[in-house]
Amino acid sequence: MTVLAPENLSQEALRIFLRMIRPRPLADPYPMYRRLREIAPFHTIRLPGLAATYVAATHAEVSELLRRKEFGPLTPGHLDLLSPGWHGHRFTRVMYTSMAFKHGADHRTRRDLVFKDFTPRRTEGHRAAIERAADAILDRLGGEVDLEEALALPFTALTIGEALGMPGSVALELGRLARAAGTVFEPMASARQRAAEIEAGTGLVDGFAALLDERRRKPERDLLTFLVKHHGEDEEEALVQAVLLFGAGFDSPVSMVGLGSRLFIEHPDQAWLVREDPSLARSAAEEILRYESPVQLVVRAAYADTELAGTPVPDGGVVFGLLAAGNRDPLVCPDPERFDVARAPIQTLSFAAGAHYCLGAPLARLQAEILFPRLLRRFPDMRLTGEPRYRSPGSMLRGLEYLPVHLS
Ligand code: HEM
Repeated sequence: MTVLAPENLSQEALRIFLRMIRPRPLADPYPMYRRLREIAPFHTIRLPGLAATYVAATHAEVSELLRRKEFGPLTPGHLDLLSPGWHGHRFTRVMYTSMAFKHGADHRTRRDLVFKDFTPRRTEGHRAAIERAADAILDRLGGEVDLEEALALPFTALTIGEALGMPGSVALELGRLARAAGTVFEPMASARQRAAEIEAGTGLVDGFAALLDERRRKPERDLLTFLVKHHGEDEEEALVQAVLLFGAGFDSPVSMVGLGSRLFIEHPDQAWLVREDPSLARSAAEEILRYESPVQLVVRAAYADTELAGTPVPDGGVVFGLLAAGNRDPLVCPDPERFDVARAPIQTLSFAAGAHYCLGAPLARLQAEILFPRLLRRFPDMRLTGEPRYRSPGSMLRGLEYLPVHLS
């Protein structure tokens, strides 16, 4: 075994990190995560333009990063460096002023307002509608299809449409835009990708502005109407909340459906287990999200001089927390490279942790629990007919954009 000097190790960590965050997707980033975990749980990375940057790669370090109040979302100052000109676009202004980018009391007020709509109990109330949506879509499927287009997009649109109070067709149309604008969360994207993001994001914001206007004129008994009424004159805040809930609530579930379906195709023994024993659906959902996390990493800033894993982190320092690397950390997950739907429960980082823990986790779990057993029972011989394509950039938001299958 070659023993590398610390300087060589930090150069290797930098090389891996730069490959990881490039604007083109990686089919298999997991060996790189493994190597980062081996080199050190917490690395300093020297990046031009950003003063102090770190990568947390193990479960313990990422958990601590997410839970400590000294760390929070990137500030407007950081966003100026990573996404210059964001103030000039309505879409980036909306996203970067949402709860996902707020800290402390500013964050809590916004989150508390909608939290009650996404508790496990409230979410359970959507079960029957989600089951109907799944059945209606699966009834129409068969033969050769792109499963992203034929299943992941419409199923997610009907689900988030149900939760927010939007017709499925509108949710599908706006969902396509939200997915194309998903790069807004990516720390690194090419200029072309940023331009496409702004174009799609502008359409998304315009769509929601029109939808909220409609609710102002004609209130319904739904979450969008609640936002409009609660925020009253502050139309911008209602828009910010609606666009974030929808964007976050559409993107990752679409990825979960595509990545999960592919995992079952590639692991027929695991598909068989879920087909034969639907009570495994819950643990299968956790395992899909652990093994192929739709949110691979999160970015945090230090809000004061502090330390992590014994390394000083100055006020303003930026830390990349690799959720997907933490999810395969052998210290918390035995045999982590194995996809095992019957795995004993472990605390994964798929929905993050701490103050920004995913608001929609109960809804995402319910979607998976409803959809996958149905899909696997109806199409026991589902197989790939071509090479699936990953979305770009994909270093933060991992998912497929094309999944050609034969359903039988
Ligand atoms: C498989 C599906 C999903 C995954 C893997 C996922 C993952 C995550 C992760 C990792 C975060 C934390 C991001 C960070 O801290 O920077 C997050 C936040 C969030 N998620 Fe999800 N999510 C999913 C589905 C949903 C759904 C269905 C909704 C529905 C509304 C939703 C709404 C949100 C919101 C609003 C936040 C921001 C919370 C805050 O800042 O306090 N997510 N999600």
